[in-house]
Order: sequence, then C-alpha cells, then structure tokens
Amino acid sequence: MKAIILSGGKGTRLRPLTYTGAKQLVPVANKPILWYGIEAIVAAGITDIGIIISPETGEEVKAKTGNGDRFGANISYILQDSPAGLAHAVKVARPFLGDAPFVMYLGDNLIQNELGGLLTDFKEQHMDGLIMLRPVANPSAFGVAEVDAQGRVMRLVEKPKVPPSNLALVGIYFFAPTIHEAIDRIQPSARGELEITDAIQELIHQQKRVEARQIEGWWLDTGKKDDLLEANQIILDTCLQSDVCGEVDERSQVFGRVQIGAGSRLINCTVRGPVSIGKDCHLENCFIGPYSSVANNVTLVEVELEHSVILQGAKVTGIHQRIVDSVIGQRAQLKTAPQRPKALRFMIGDDCQIELA
Ligand code: TTP
Repeated sequence: MKAIILSGGKGTRLRPLTYTGAKQLVPVANKPILWYGIEAIVAAGITDIGIIISPETGEEVKAKTGNGDRFGANISYILQDSPAGLAHAVKVARPFLGDAPFVMYLGDNLIQNELGGLLTDFKEQHMDGLIMLRPVANPSAFGVAEVDAQGRVMRLVEKPKVPPSNLALVGIYFFAPTIHEAIDRIQPSARGELEITDAIQELIHQQKRVEARQIEGWWLDTGKKDDLLEANQIILDTCLQSDVCGEVDERSQVFGRVQIGAGSRLINCTVRGPVSIGKDCHLENCFIGPYSSVANNVTLVEVELEHSVILQGAKVTGIHQRIVDSVIGQRAQLKTAPQRPKALRFMIGDDCQIELA
C-alpha cells in the first residue's frame, strides 16, 4: 500500500497567502496542514508516500518537509507541471504508484477519524474504490455522492447546481490500481480539469466495487480563510498540550492550555488558551485570547488578539481595537499611532481583505 498527497494546485481561494507560499504549508496550530496528513497516513502503517508538487511551490514544500525521516516515512516528490485536476495528479504519480493500491489525500484536508479501520475494510473487501462522505449544509460547493442503502455509490457529481444528496466527498480516497484505467478513459471537464469524481464514476460504470463510508468526526478543508480559522480552532481545542519553553515575566498571566516556544519572551501579557505561540517571538502588553496561533519570529506590542492566525515574522504594534477572526501573512506589518489615528496609510498586497469593523 502506498499513499499520494496532493500538494500542488493553484490555491486561488487562499490568496494573497498563496502568492508567496504553498497553501499546504500554512500552519494550523503552528504546524503545516500537510504534516497532519502525513502523520495520519504513517499512523495507518503506510510509509511509502509520494507528494505531488507544483513548479511554483514545490521547492518550498520539499525544503520544509524533507525526505520523511522526521515522520518515519519515505517521501518522494512528484512534479505536476500544471494543476490539471486531481485525476491528472494520479496520472502523473503512476510511475511512483506502479501496481500498488493507494490512499490519495488532499494536502489541504484534515479529518479527525483515523485511517486504519477504513484501510482494513478497503483491503479485506477487495474494493476498487473507497470514498468518505460527510453531510454538509452547502453540497453545491463540493463533489456530491448518491449512495444506496448498503453504502454503495450510485452516482457522483462535481459541484452540482441541484445536489442529489447532502453528502460531500471528503478529500481522502482509497484506490485499487483499476483507477488508472478509469482515468485513461475520462476527458477533461468543463473547467478543463481531469476530475477524480469522473474517474470514480467511470469505475462505477465498469461495475467495479466502489463503496462509501460516512465519517463522524470533523472534516476540515483549509482552502479558504474561514476554514483555516476553523481548523485552527478545532486543532487547538482537541490537540494542544501545555508547554511553556519561552520566558514569561512576573507581570504576565497564562491561563488554560498554552504553548510558548523556546526563545519567545512575554512581557506584561495575558494569554488565555488554547493558544499556540511559536519560537523567538516578542510579545509586550498584549492580550492573546482563545484560538490564536502565533508563528515563529512574530512581534506583537500593545495588541489584543482572538481567534486569529499570525504567520511567521509578522509585526503588529499599537492596535487598540481587538483583532478577531484574522489571518495576518508572513512578515506583514501593522501599526497605529499612540493617539487615535487621524489617517490610515496602507501598502496592501493584491487580493487582501481589510475590514475596519
Ligand atoms: P483544490 O483546493 O480543489 O484546488 P486548488 O489548490 O487549485 O485551490 P483553488 O480552488 O483555491 O484554486 O485542490 C485540493 C488539493 O489538491 C490541494 O492541496 C491542491 C491539490 N491539487 C493538486 O495537487 N493538483 C491539482 O491539479 C489540483 C487541482 C489540486
């Protein structure tokens, strides 16, 4: 059994962060999203992993993630020249996959469920495809499945205007090598991509065994800002353990589960967990509220923060309103005058969203 993790793509919905970096490396609770997927795959006993990368962000993904030693895995990198679809990524990975059955994991997805039980079902029942489904409120935004009472998949449609059910296709799939012939038979969709939903539909046409399981735990697709904040909240809520390595002065107070990395200094701050603060940060006269993640080398002075993600190297000073529901990109700088500002002066990158609420 092998695994591929898709870490290419365009990432248009997470601009501007994706102008300068891979969306799969955006941290959730200070760990790249992609790494959660690698860990889940290794936990299921699969260590031969191919990561699909794009020409734009591939080197960054490689440099950060490495050869797999840190995960106890053997990671190969597979270049996909253009983001021509999920099934196209499988096609590109064919030399790596050979005739092995495999898990396909979208690099910006996270699920709570462990993969082990599903993997056992897939293997023991000799399936050609096993997909995961989750009821959602807005199925038109997803691939949607129609299943019979036995859990067999009847039909799959990509982002349907009139959805046949409320069951969205989660971005984690198990396939036998028969998927390759199915992919060879499909054509690009109206949006110009080779769709994995079409390939699975093709398996169904060929009377192959495709089953679905509904997952109970949370499923996060971190492709957009609010999803990223939700993922951050859920991971901080469920996985964070207290670990204070940095320096916290006597005027500071830390409540609840809080992580503070080595080399970070907190001066006269109140931190109310769950909160993750990275390494080498400087925080002074701040309130850091629940569900905040602050990456390495961040400076925050006179800031109130809650339910937000601050990326590496950002510097925020003297903001007197509380910053909420925000994502602040790498090395971004935000400051106001000590007195109430009379003017606002911006240098804002393309596709940014600023809301002075
Ligand atoms: P998507 O989020 O569906 O696509 P995208 O990354 O192009 O994002 P957007 O819609 O915001 O432009 O992709 C799901 C995952 O699969 C994501 O981790 C990127 C990856 N991917 C590839 O590796 N190759 C591809 O050809 C595509 C379409 C996606």
